[in-house]
Amino acid sequence: MDEVVAIERACSRTPWSKRMFMEELQNPLAHCFVCRRDDSEQPSVLGFICFRNVGEESELLNLAVDPVHRRSGIGKELMQFYLNLAEKTQVKRFYLEVETSNLSAIRLYESFSYQPVATRKRFYQDRFDALVMVRKA
Ligand SMILES: CC(C)(COP(=O)(O)OP(=O)(O)OC[C@H]1O[C@@H](n2cnc3c(N)ncnc32)[C@H](O)[C@@H]1OP(=O)(O)O)[C@@H](O)C(=O)NCCC(=O)NCCS
Repeated sequence: MDEVVAIERACSRTPWSKRMFMEELQNPLAHCFVCRRDDSEQPSVLGFICFRNVGEESELLNLAVDPVHRRSGIGKELMQFYLNLAEKTQVKRFYLEVETSNLSAIRLYESFSYQPVATRKRFYQDRFDALVMVRKA
Protein backbone atom coordinates (compact mmCIF):
# COMPACT_ATOMS: atom_id res chain seq x y z
CA MET A 1 0.00 0.00 0.00
CA ASP A 2 2.82 2.41 0.83
CA GLU A 3 4.35 1.84 -2.61
CA VAL A 4 1.00 2.44 -4.28
CA VAL A 5 0.50 5.67 -2.35
CA ALA A 6 4.02 6.83 -3.28
CA ILE A 7 3.30 6.25 -6.99
CA GLU A 8 -0.06 7.99 -6.67
CA ARG A 9 1.61 11.01 -5.07
CA ALA A 10 4.14 11.18 -7.89
CA CYS A 11 1.43 10.97 -10.55
CA SER A 12 -1.60 12.96 -9.51
CA ARG A 13 -2.35 16.59 -8.76
CA THR A 14 -5.05 15.40 -6.36
CA PRO A 15 -3.69 12.08 -5.09
CA TRP A 16 -5.78 9.51 -3.26
CA SER A 17 -4.58 9.10 0.32
CA LYS A 18 -3.83 5.73 1.91
CA ARG A 19 -7.18 6.00 3.65
CA MET A 20 -8.98 6.56 0.34
CA PHE A 21 -7.36 3.43 -1.12
CA MET A 22 -8.32 1.46 1.99
CA GLU A 23 -11.92 2.67 1.78
CA GLU A 24 -12.04 1.85 -1.92
CA LEU A 25 -10.84 -1.70 -1.21
CA GLN A 26 -13.71 -2.16 1.22
CA ASN A 27 -16.31 -1.29 -1.40
CA PRO A 28 -17.80 -4.54 -2.72
CA LEU A 29 -17.93 -3.12 -6.26
CA ALA A 30 -14.26 -2.15 -6.22
CA HIS A 31 -11.33 -3.89 -7.84
CA CYS A 32 -7.75 -2.75 -7.31
CA PHE A 33 -4.72 -4.52 -8.74
CA VAL A 34 -1.02 -3.82 -8.82
CA CYS A 35 1.60 -4.70 -11.40
CA ARG A 36 4.64 -5.86 -9.47
CA ARG A 37 8.13 -6.86 -10.44
CA ASP A 38 9.22 -10.08 -8.79
CA ASP A 39 12.54 -10.66 -10.49
CA SER A 40 14.46 -9.00 -7.68
CA GLU A 41 14.86 -9.87 -4.01
CA GLN A 42 12.49 -7.13 -3.01
CA PRO A 43 9.33 -7.18 -5.12
CA SER A 44 8.22 -3.68 -5.97
CA VAL A 45 5.07 -2.12 -7.34
CA LEU A 46 5.41 -0.67 -10.84
CA GLY A 47 1.85 0.53 -11.29
CA PHE A 48 -1.75 -0.03 -10.29
CA ILE A 49 -5.31 0.11 -11.54
CA CYS A 50 -8.63 0.63 -9.72
CA PHE A 51 -12.06 0.18 -11.22
CA ARG A 52 -15.64 -0.58 -10.29
CA ASN A 53 -18.02 -2.89 -12.10
CA VAL A 54 -21.73 -2.27 -11.70
CA GLY A 55 -23.92 -4.58 -13.75
CA GLU A 56 -23.26 -3.88 -17.42
CA GLU A 57 -21.09 -0.84 -16.68
CA SER A 58 -17.54 -0.44 -15.55
CA GLU A 59 -15.73 2.71 -14.51
CA LEU A 60 -11.99 3.14 -14.46
CA LEU A 61 -11.23 5.18 -11.34
CA ASN A 62 -7.47 5.26 -11.12
CA LEU A 63 -4.48 4.12 -13.13
CA ALA A 64 -0.85 5.05 -12.66
CA VAL A 65 2.61 3.81 -13.51
CA ASP A 66 5.75 4.70 -11.59
CA PRO A 67 7.33 7.57 -13.57
CA VAL A 68 10.65 5.68 -13.64
CA HIS A 69 9.02 2.77 -15.47
CA ARG A 70 6.85 4.59 -17.98
CA ARG A 71 6.79 3.83 -21.70
CA SER A 72 7.66 0.21 -21.16
CA GLY A 73 4.19 -1.24 -21.67
CA ILE A 74 3.00 -1.40 -18.05
CA GLY A 75 0.02 0.92 -18.52
CA LYS A 76 -1.00 -1.09 -21.56
CA GLU A 77 -0.66 -4.35 -19.63
CA LEU A 78 -2.79 -3.04 -16.75
CA MET A 79 -5.49 -1.87 -19.20
CA GLN A 80 -5.45 -5.20 -21.05
CA PHE A 81 -5.75 -7.06 -17.75
CA TYR A 82 -8.69 -4.85 -16.70
CA LEU A 83 -10.58 -5.22 -19.95
CA ASN A 84 -10.02 -8.99 -20.15
CA LEU A 85 -11.27 -9.42 -16.61
CA ALA A 86 -14.32 -7.20 -17.11
CA GLU A 87 -15.22 -8.84 -20.39
CA LYS A 88 -15.54 -12.18 -18.59
CA THR A 89 -18.43 -10.61 -16.66
CA GLN A 90 -21.59 -8.94 -17.94
CA VAL A 91 -19.89 -5.57 -18.49
CA LYS A 92 -20.81 -4.01 -21.84
CA ARG A 93 -19.78 -0.36 -21.44
CA PHE A 94 -16.59 1.10 -19.99
CA TYR A 95 -16.38 4.69 -18.75
CA LEU A 96 -13.58 6.95 -17.59
CA GLU A 97 -12.70 10.60 -17.09
CA VAL A 98 -9.32 12.01 -17.97
CA GLU A 99 -7.90 15.52 -17.90
CA THR A 100 -8.07 16.97 -21.42
CA SER A 101 -4.36 17.85 -21.28
CA ASN A 102 -3.30 14.30 -20.33
CA LEU A 103 -2.35 13.21 -23.82
CA SER A 104 -0.37 10.11 -22.79
CA ALA A 105 -3.40 8.66 -21.00
CA ILE A 106 -5.78 9.70 -23.79
CA ARG A 107 -3.56 7.96 -26.39
CA LEU A 108 -3.48 4.86 -24.21
CA TYR A 109 -7.28 4.80 -23.90
CA GLU A 110 -7.77 5.46 -27.61
CA SER A 111 -5.54 2.47 -28.34
CA PHE A 112 -8.13 0.37 -26.47
CA SER A 113 -11.00 1.84 -28.55
CA TYR A 114 -12.25 4.32 -25.96
CA GLN A 115 -13.93 7.27 -27.63
CA PRO A 116 -14.47 10.79 -26.31
CA VAL A 117 -18.14 11.52 -25.71
CA ALA A 118 -18.22 14.70 -23.61
CA THR A 119 -16.16 17.38 -21.95
CA ARG A 120 -16.76 18.44 -18.35
CA LYS A 121 -15.60 21.98 -17.83
CA ARG A 122 -13.52 22.77 -14.74
CA PHE A 123 -14.05 19.24 -13.47
CA TYR A 124 -10.73 18.92 -11.63
CA GLN A 125 -10.02 21.39 -8.82
CA ASP A 126 -12.64 23.67 -10.35
CA ARG A 127 -10.00 24.48 -12.95
CA PHE A 128 -9.05 21.69 -15.37
CA ASP A 129 -11.42 20.19 -17.93
CA ALA A 130 -12.18 16.47 -18.10
CA LEU A 131 -12.80 14.36 -21.15
CA VAL A 132 -15.37 11.60 -20.69
CA MET A 133 -14.47 8.52 -22.70
CA VAL A 134 -16.53 5.41 -23.39
CA ARG A 135 -15.70 2.00 -24.78
CA LYS A 136 -18.24 -0.61 -25.84
CA ALA A 137 -17.45 -4.30 -25.32
C1 LIG B 1 -0.94 7.11 -18.64
C2 LIG B 1 0.06 6.13 -18.07
C3 LIG B 1 -0.69 5.18 -17.10
C4 LIG B 1 0.67 5.31 -19.21
O1 LIG B 1 1.50 4.31 -18.65
P1 LIG B 1 2.79 3.72 -19.42
O2 LIG B 1 3.18 2.46 -18.73
O3 LIG B 1 3.83 4.76 -19.57
O4 LIG B 1 2.15 3.39 -20.86
P2 LIG B 1 2.66 2.29 -21.89
O5 LIG B 1 4.14 2.24 -21.94
O6 LIG B 1 1.94 1.01 -21.62
O7 LIG B 1 2.14 2.94 -23.25
C5 LIG B 1 0.95 2.47 -23.87
C6 LIG B 1 0.46 3.51 -24.86
O8 LIG B 1 0.05 4.69 -24.18
C7 LIG B 1 0.34 5.84 -24.99
N1 LIG B 1 1.35 6.66 -24.30
C8 LIG B 1 1.93 6.39 -23.10
N2 LIG B 1 2.77 7.39 -22.75
C9 LIG B 1 2.71 8.30 -23.76
C10 LIG B 1 3.34 9.57 -23.97
N3 LIG B 1 4.20 10.08 -23.08
N4 LIG B 1 3.02 10.23 -25.10
C11 LIG B 1 2.16 9.73 -25.99
N5 LIG B 1 1.53 8.53 -25.85
C12 LIG B 1 1.81 7.84 -24.75
C13 LIG B 1 0.90 5.31 -26.29
O9 LIG B 1 -0.20 5.08 -27.14
C14 LIG B 1 1.50 3.99 -25.84
O10 LIG B 1 1.63 3.05 -26.87
P3 LIG B 1 3.03 2.99 -27.71
O11 LIG B 1 4.12 2.86 -26.68
O12 LIG B 1 2.83 1.78 -28.55
O13 LIG B 1 3.11 4.27 -28.44
C15 LIG B 1 1.23 6.86 -17.32
O14 LIG B 1 1.74 7.86 -18.18
C16 LIG B 1 0.84 7.48 -16.01
O15 LIG B 1 0.90 6.84 -14.95
N6 LIG B 1 0.48 8.78 -16.02
C17 LIG B 1 0.15 9.50 -14.77
C18 LIG B 1 -1.14 9.02 -14.18
C19 LIG B 1 -2.26 9.21 -15.16
O16 LIG B 1 -2.32 10.17 -15.90
N7 LIG B 1 -3.22 8.24 -15.10
C20 LIG B 1 -4.41 8.30 -15.91
C21 LIG B 1 -5.45 9.06 -15.16
S1 LIG B 1 -6.97 9.14 -16.11
